[in-house]
Amino acid sequence: MDFQFTEEQLAVKEAARDFAEMELLPGVIERDEKELFPAEQVKKMGEMGLLGMMVSPQYGGGGMDTVSYVLAMEEIAKVDASAAVVMSVNNSLVCWGLEKYGTEEQKQKYLVPLAQGQIIGAFCLSEPEAGSDATSQRTTAEDKGDYYLLNGTKNWITNGNSASVYIVFAQTDKEKGHRGINALIVEKGMEGFVVGKKEKKMGIRGSDTHSLMFTDVKVPKENRIGEDGFGFKLAMAVLNGGRIGIAAQALGIAAGSFERALKYSKERKAFGVEISKHQAIQFKLADMATAIDAARLLTLQAARLKDAGQNFTKEAAMAKLFASKTAMDVTTEAVQIHGGYGYVQEYHVERMMRDAKITQIYEGTSEIQKIVISRELLK
Ligand code: CAA
Repeated sequence: MDFQFTEEQLAVKEAARDFAEMELLPGVIERDEKELFPAEQVKKMGEMGLLGMMVSPQYGGGGMDTVSYVLAMEEIAKVDASAAVVMSVNNSLVCWGLEKYGTEEQKQKYLVPLAQGQIIGAFCLSEPEAGSDATSQRTTAEDKGDYYLLNGTKNWITNGNSASVYIVFAQTDKEKGHRGINALIVEKGMEGFVVGKKEKKMGIRGSDTHSLMFTDVKVPKENRIGEDGFGFKLAMAVLNGGRIGIAAQALGIAAGSFERALKYSKERKAFGVEISKHQAIQFKLADMATAIDAARLLTLQAARLKDAGQNFTKEAAMAKLFASKTAMDVTTEAVQIHGGYGYVQEYHVERMMRDAKITQIYEGTSEIQKIVISRELLK
């Protein structure tokens, strides 16, 4: 596989890095502490084209490839993992699914403003009793002729309050199991749709995660994405691509904490020398850098396969599985290298360690990734 980047790809990476350093870094600690959504910064990300990177220009997007998306995502996540997940959900889970499976009318009405970053979207699959077991949807979408009557509750929804457009999965025909699930576009403000409590989270505290309640919400039939009963297949297809985005987010968290640990190790002195002169630290740095490179290669491999139109289900799951473990391992070591300073806010790595954990949970836990990988291997 060719891992040379084009000039355009490198320019995207550099622009994302500059943006992260200039716009996201100031205030990232405060946003984490006060659980503030980076509204102003997300608006600028939209203006820069970071929220609809892979959408074709015809629908207001950047027309870029998945490799560019991975490069940009890594740079954003190096600095602010909360902003990165907003970017990931909008690009991978909302825009991509709409462009691939939506009607022309849905694309004009929803995809264009989403891709341009005028509004952001949310992907609403998880429920109080359907997380990993996504086929067990309890939310119902009763077919009432020209509309669906939506009832139920969704949990842990990223962009839960800041979104304007929600892709909601619901069961229309229980008898049909996963083939009875539909994906509906729900707008904020539809009667009966209430944004519930905001979760108080361990990490990615700048992103807004909410429960959502739907009570007799009338969703017009034209808001269904794909054929009747296609919802679960849509969710799976979208999550395959989403896993590349989360792998890149995890990679960024790992790489960002590593950069800080490397710099610190060359400045901090102990026992008369910089701590980087101690083999105990050198071994840590070597292990961290090796894991990060491996995670990057896996993530880029999945992105290249997706760009080439090939099956990337296994590779995306492998990338997410490995990159999220790397994020956890590397951030933990980054805190260790910083010693007492690593345990306090100002040095950033304690936040990164908390942020890393979610990458092993959302868009499928590590255990789910292993199921996906082994199923592909055993096909
Ligand atoms: N790609 C494409 N199709 C897939 C697929 C995949 N990765 N996995 C399953 N499918 C298809 C199957 O082929 C099958 O299709 P047919 O009906 O044609 O046979 C159908 O989906 C049902 O598949 P299974 O019988 O295998 O379904 P299952 O009940 O055994 O579950 C699972 C499979 C992989 C465990 C799935 O439930 C899953 O991925 N769970 C995790 C859900 C998840 O990732 N949730 C994250 C929420 S979103 C989020 O976190 C966003 C955020 O806020 C950041």
